Amino acid sequence: QQNWMPEEEGIDHTAGVIREGYMYIPNRIRSYQTPVFKTKILGADAICMSGQQATELFYDTEKFERSSAAPQRVLKTLFGKDGVQTLDGDEHRNRKEMFMSLMTKERLEKLRQLTTLRFEEKLNDWSYKKEIVLYEEMKKMLTRIACEWAGVPLYASELENRTNQLAKLFQDAASIGIGYQKSVKSRSSAEKWIRGLIEDVREGKLNPEDETALAVMSRHKNLNGELLETQTAAVDLLNILRPIVAISIFVNFTALAVYHYPEEAEKLYDGNEDKLQRFVQEVRRFYPFFPFIPAKVRHDFSWKQFEFKQGTLVLLDVYGTNHDPTHWDNPSLFKPDRFKEWEDSPFGFIPQGGGDYSFGHRCAGEWVTTEIMKVCLDFLANRMTFDVPKQDLSFSYVNMPSIPRSKVVLTNIRKK
Ligand code: HEM
Repeated sequence: QQNWMPEEEGIDHTAGVIREGYMYIPNRIRSYQTPVFKTKILGADAICMSGQQATELFYDTEKFERSSAAPQRVLKTLFGKDGVQTLDGDEHRNRKEMFMSLMTKERLEKLRQLTTLRFEEKLNDWSYKKEIVLYEEMKKMLTRIACEWAGVPLYASELENRTNQLAKLFQDAASIGIGYQKSVKSRSSAEKWIRGLIEDVREGKLNPEDETALAVMSRHKNLNGELLETQTAAVDLLNILRPIVAISIFVNFTALAVYHYPEEAEKLYDGNEDKLQRFVQEVRRFYPFFPFIPAKVRHDFSWKQFEFKQGTLVLLDVYGTNHDPTHWDNPSLFKPDRFKEWEDSPFGFIPQGGGDYSFGHRCAGEWVTTEIMKVCLDFLANRMTFDVPKQDLSFSYVNMPSIPRSKVVLTNIRKK
């Protein structure tokens, strides 16, 4: 067995990451034939890892930490500073509990009802329109749903503006130049908006329902028994609103799957929950979304005789792990039924991270995502008809986040 870690030659490979995007790690894993390799990104050593075993290692919190792992660029746009993503140990557990307390059965059911209601309303509107761009429509719909669910007041006149603000945080986080600057600006205005709401709740001027994210985060206490800094609570409330709006990307891919795999969509005719679940799981596995997750080596250790040095940046390959041929049979086929026999491993299927929700950094919003996707899938497959006119439905394996190029244009929409 090979006991040395392959290393990409050269001074820096940031350009390779930009050039190859989602395929940067999988391409090299395939050619080195090891689950890990070393490279240089942004001028520093980095280890890239892929596959189920590497994921299991990555989620060992004794070996890896998150503070200082995410690049500054990402903190200024996508994540925000001092949010749950950047915490370790007890502090992380305390903050993560705050997130997971929002994910009860009742709250998820409430979210399903809201999504159904708003989708039905929109479907009526769409049937009077010549065409719609599904991505743009979903972003607005999900901004409204996110705010309602989180207890955040939103006037109809604000919808357009808030939608753009939240969407810029994920659409342009990885761009360079003007798009990136706009994303940074959107973050500071979005944080200001949410800070104001948290202050209003704390001063008793605003009274959201007790179980909503706005109420919970305004009142949450840290390990010292103190309220969170207003700014920190704002960053974490945006960690609810922003990604709910980002589900519009998965809804776009869901529509694409319904269109490209009609034989699979037909199987959903009875709205059976298990079938809807398998279809959305396959959408989350199949299409590229989150490329890789960063962490830092906590202290020196070796794994499979490969050396990991303290402080080294490590990137876990999300797309490649979901397409690993040693774990997935024919990974490039869209086959929802593969989830029939799937043993529910927390490490082999990681579209939203892996491991444990409470103790690790696995996405807090995975159930929110699948619930919203199932409602939208049921509409797209069973409760409406539409045409897909000629357009560019391709999506990139390089640009992040990947979104179908035409943003999915639909015409002749009718309620079924
Ligand atoms: C973390 C993906 C939706 C809240 C993550 C992580 C990924 C991810 C890859 C990092 C896991 C790690 O660091 O190990 C996605 C994708 C989504 C999505 C692709 C689809 C739109 C959501 C939603 C919410 C949410 C809807 C909230 C309602 C979070 C939070 C974290 C997180 C709070 C940080 C967890 C922690 O650091 O402990 N997500 N997510 N995400 N996600 Fe999501």
